[in-house]
Amino acid sequence: MKTLVILAHPNLENSRVNQRWKEELQQYPNDITIHEIYKEYPDWIIDVPREQNLMEAYDHVIFQFPLYWYSYPPLLKKWFDDVLAYGWAYGSKGDKLKGKKLGLAISIGDKKENYQPEGSVSFTVDEVIAPFKASAKHVGAEALPYLAVFGASFQASDEEINTSAKEYIKYIFKYQRQYNSMPI
Ligand SMILES: Cc1cc2nc3c(=O)[nH]c(=O)nc-3n(C[C@H](O)[C@H](O)[C@H](O)COP(=O)(O)O)c2cc1C
Repeated sequence: MKTLVILAHPNLENSRVNQRWKEELQQYPNDITIHEIYKEYPDWIIDVPREQNLMEAYDHVIFQFPLYWYSYPPLLKKWFDDVLAYGWAYGSKGDKLKGKKLGLAISIGDKKENYQPEGSVSFTVDEVIAPFKASAKHVGAEALPYLAVFGASFQASDEEINTSAKEYIKYIFKYQRQYNSMPI
């Protein structure tokens, strides 16, 4: 049982967090498949059958991205719009994501203390990702708790980013192992 990571970063060569996270994921090629959608689809024309086949091959999928305007980078939003199609993901015959475990690994520019009702953002991360959780529910998948690093724009030190990369691997294996130990 491997984990699929759908990585969506429009500018990975200038990234600190997502690039470091990717390097950590690459240490585990037998357990983790990385699929970089901005690299695969520079023209934004998504090969829907290919993506659907990929999704069907994995029961544990993580979406990894930097938070942009409290949401996904735009190609990831398009990926959801295109790939989670009627008759495949939902509708009377659309059950292909049913029972899958879907997680989020998010780099967040702002500080953690701002993501609360009293903070400058006014919303928690769990509130910000409500569309993802509702979408997972709509297709019968399980939305896992998210993993995030805060202060990703400026504040986070190299050490904090390195620590978050190790936590990310633990996060992946925690749910991969949970799945592996389930009776078939
Ligand atoms: C277009 C754009 C929108 C952004 N929107 C947000 C936002 O809504 N909330 C936030 O905390 N950070 C926001 N940021 C900061 C990014 O989340 C941050 O730069 C990113 O997570 C850093 O990861 P990286 O080093 O992998 O690029 C935004 C950045 C850009 C470029």
